[in-house]
Amino acid sequence: MTATPPGTLFTLGMGPGDPELLTLKAARILGTAPVVAYFAKAGQRGHARTIAEGRIGPAAEELRFDYPVTVEIPHTDGRYVDAMAGCYHAAAEAIAARLGQGLDVALLCEGDPFFYGSSMYLFDRLRDRFPMEIVPGVLGMSGCWAQAKLPMTHGDDVLAVVPGTMTAAALADALRGADAAVVMKLGRNLAKVRAVLAALGRAERAVYVERGTMPTARILPLAEVADGAAPYFSMILVPGRQGPR
Ligand SMILES: C[S@@+](CC[C@H](N)C(=O)[O-])C[C@H]1O[C@@H](n2cnc3c(N)ncnc32)[C@H](O)[C@@H]1O
Repeated sequence: MTATPPGTLFTLGMGPGDPELLTLKAARILGTAPVVAYFAKAGQRGHARTIAEGRIGPAAEELRFDYPVTVEIPHTDGRYVDAMAGCYHAAAEAIAARLGQGLDVALLCEGDPFFYGSSMYLFDRLRDRFPMEIVPGVLGMSGCWAQAKLPMTHGDDVLAVVPGTMTAAALADALRGADAAVVMKLGRNLAKVRAVLAALGRAERAVYVERGTMPTARILPLAEVADGAAPYFSMILVPGRQGPR
């Protein structure tokens, strides 16, 4: 008796939110995969799953994995790390069970999978056991700067991409040498990020984008945004060199 060949894990970049920004390749794989897996915040539909609406095959099995925590505990807290590791382990084993039966699995990931994507934790756990394919996606930040009509980098401009979760000193160090910047993961860090940008003389041209390319998108000069908690899908864009040459 010959063993069933294993299925392939297709990690699909789902783009920033607008379903029309899904690649043709991701849409094709999504429509034929017998198993579709995704992470979601408990009680919510899940951003990647929302983008996939209408494209999943009617007979596909959906594997939903709820994040045990999101912003309730700081990412540096051991309890957060343990809870997330448990979640990724369970998700990897649920997917491995399907792959082991010879079923292909499409794992949905917002934006691009290898850019701050949770799917990388499953890739790391399964890469030595099963065939893997990665389909790149339109990055959240490129969706945001396109919708904001904000040319970001020209010529030899240097772009820094930083998480707002860094300390003020580390943020300042990372941003000082860059012409343009993207600050992701704002959450409760908005006031700190604003203060750092102001100290570096970059706050005036900074633009805040919330839920870029989604129906509820908000785009405002940073100066018009009140301090306080920013939603999960938000970022600050600081364009580099300005004007025509
Ligand atoms: C865990 S990272 C995931 C990044 C994703 N893999 C990508 O390629 O854009 C989540 C952060 O990405 C940013 N982000 C992603 N998509 C966004 C969007 N459509 N609008 C605003 N921010 C977005 C936010 O800063 C959010 O906190």
